[in-house]
Amino acid sequence: MTTSVLSSAQHNAIHQATADAVGLPAQSYTSAGWMRSERDRVFSPTWTAIGYVHNLPLASATPVELMGLPLLMVKDPTGTVRVFHNVCRHRGRQLVDEACELQGSIRCPYHSWTYHFDGSLSGTPNIGGHGIHHLEGFDPEVHGLFPVRSAVWMELLFVNLSADAPSFDEHIAPLEARWTKFTGAGDLSCARPVNDGGWMEMEARANWKLLVENYCESYHLPWVHPGLNRYSRIEDHYSILAGDWGAGQGTTVFDFSEQVGIDLPVFENWPETEKKVAEYIALFPNVLLGLQVDHFYAVVLLPVAVDRTVEQLQIYYVGDETLTERYAKARRVLLDGWREVFVEDIDPVEGMQRGRASSAFDGGAFSPVLDTGTHHFHKWVASRLADN
Ligand code: FES
Ligand SMILES: [Fe+2]
Repeated sequence: MTTSVLSSAQHNAIHQATADAVGLPAQSYTSAGWMRSERDRVFSPTWTAIGYVHNLPLASATPVELMGLPLLMVKDPTGTVRVFHNVCRHRGRQLVDEACELQGSIRCPYHSWTYHFDGSLSGTPNIGGHGIHHLEGFDPEVHGLFPVRSAVWMELLFVNLSADAPSFDEHIAPLEARWTKFTGAGDLSCARPVNDGGWMEMEARANWKLLVENYCESYHLPWVHPGLNRYSRIEDHYSILAGDWGAGQGTTVFDFSEQVGIDLPVFENWPETEKKVAEYIALFPNVLLGLQVDHFYAVVLLPVAVDRTVEQLQIYYVGDETLTERYAKARRVLLDGWREVFVEDIDPVEGMQRGRASSAFDGGAFSPVLDTGTHHFHKWVASRLADN
């Protein structure tokens, strides 16, 4: 099976370069200043996930912080989601401190300026003195909330802070093209998220990059995931180096559902001969995706500090019926299976974070065979820091 987007000659070149390479410096995992540079140069110019939209209530505002940058997700009464900088246009108070449902507008708690769901300024009480709510020469039209370019894909909410990245459709097209061979054109969208047996949140005391790196390789499988490794072994995996948008790995023998005796609806167009193929791709910079014949999942990595990352896992099941009570037990079994794997990954990434306090660490070394995905990701980060 041809599983990589690269030719074998390109692979050989990558293997050699990987063997000779060193990784990113320890400082890039421990310095708050470095993380700020990553936000501006690595995250800002591309599409970064900040959460999911399906769990946001209608008429609500939900603050989220992206590497210290306060943002606000607003869902209007019709279900449209917009993102704004979470800062009031008056004197710059953070506009919303906690997730809340809205009674018709967003109100700043300081002097009660109000904004419509679309961010436009709707009220400026007493701006002209007591009882005078309008002011000549002050144009509310140019004092709306600062919008952030956003897009929704598979209920994931992405932002492009720089506002000049290629369209999100263009951004996601290579991934969709890759997975069309499994799901058929457009069929990923028949996968549905559900909370009961599908949602999990964790926190790792580790830099966000360590979670991406760990996801890009199967090298650690025998020692970190002995359960998983019993049926999907290290030798059943292949690397995925996906140009400038991702890296990861795939397996040819993922059959968790069969192993634990659950029966979930599958993607209809999935080729019969590849039923056990599953792929795990880190969509740069901060989304981990997994695709199996009977479910899809996404993990949003929210870097809350240079050494702390929140992980939000959402599993999506195939078709509406899988969301019913009939499949509740199977969903919980599947979620528990993934919980075990993701919890097992916490210890090594936290250990790598602790290791980066060592003054002797020099970036480390890569296996030219099993660390190619990690190396690919390092090169991507380094090129962004150098280019922008
Ligand atoms: S800072 Fe928001 S109303 Fe004054
Ligand atoms: Fe792992």
